Amino acid sequence: MRKRPQRRRGAAERLITKAVVPAAGRGTRLLPATRSQPKEMLPVGRKPTIQHVVEELAAAGLREVLLISGQGKRAIEDHLDRDVNLHGEGHHPWMDLRFFHARQSAPRGLADAVGVAEPFAAGQPFVVALGDSIVVSRAREPLLKRMLSVHTKRRPAATVAVEEVPHEAVNRYGIVAPKGETNSVFAIRDIVEKPSPSKAPSNLAAAGRYVLAPVIFDAIRRIEPGVGRELQLTDALRLLLREGQEIVCVRLRKGEHRLDIGNFLSYFQAFLELSLADPELGATLRAWMRARLHGGGKEG
Ligand code: G1P
Repeated sequence: MRKRPQRRRGAAERLITKAVVPAAGRGTRLLPATRSQPKEMLPVGRKPTIQHVVEELAAAGLREVLLISGQGKRAIEDHLDRDVNLHGEGHHPWMDLRFFHARQSAPRGLADAVGVAEPFAAGQPFVVALGDSIVVSRAREPLLKRMLSVHTKRRPAATVAVEEVPHEAVNRYGIVAPKGETNSVFAIRDIVEKPSPSKAPSNLAAAGRYVLAPVIFDAIRRIEPGVGRELQLTDALRLLLREGQEIVCVRLRKGEHRLDIGNFLSYFQAFLELSLADPELGATLRAWMRARLHGGGKEG
């Protein structure tokens, strides 16, 4: 038998270039705003949420993006269409991304949505960025870049972004159990979806950004519905941990946080934060708000 020529693993081969953006949730917590439009199209400041997300992906050097959408989500496809070149908008790096679209026909959970991406991933590691979360970062090396370099160096089964949340809010997130000390990068021994505060192993929550090895697809096939009777990505990660695979976490840094548009309070907060930071109108808006808050409801 002929010996196979040894392939050198060049830099290009190791590069992670693909991202999957699950955006199939129904947005029921945002009714009536989401009666006829996807929540990912709600503007946060000047741009719809989905544009913030794909800008983050482009800035991290990713090239190909698979959007997983569902019923009533066509507006996302239209928005990301590169040929829609509106007057005066100019060219932005996210417009160079190649977009692919797939559908999750029934809302069976985040793990099920990620499972749709198996042919797209084609046996390579890939990023998952939740379409309803924006990561605001003033760090020199933004979160996703740090995650990609950790993943490329350590080759774990998954690299998960985590942020500290208030103890009483742990039941809204996937919560990790660190193996030892929690530095900026650390390994975990467990991850639990939406635990009650009394059962939570920490207050470090999965923050909507993952780098996943293709082994995740096999795990997704083997999990049962969990919290909310949905297939949870957290449960697939947990299964991999139980089988001895390594999962590492990258902590959000100072000056970095996640804006979640999944419910009205966090959506209002996200909109206010990014509008107040608007380079052109932020200062005027701030002055107007100050007057409204202290001046007792006068218009103008
Ligand atoms: C999802 C994940 C959860 C994660 C959260 C925030 O939950 O299942 O583990 O902490 O996103 O990124 P959801 O907000 O869809 O309920």
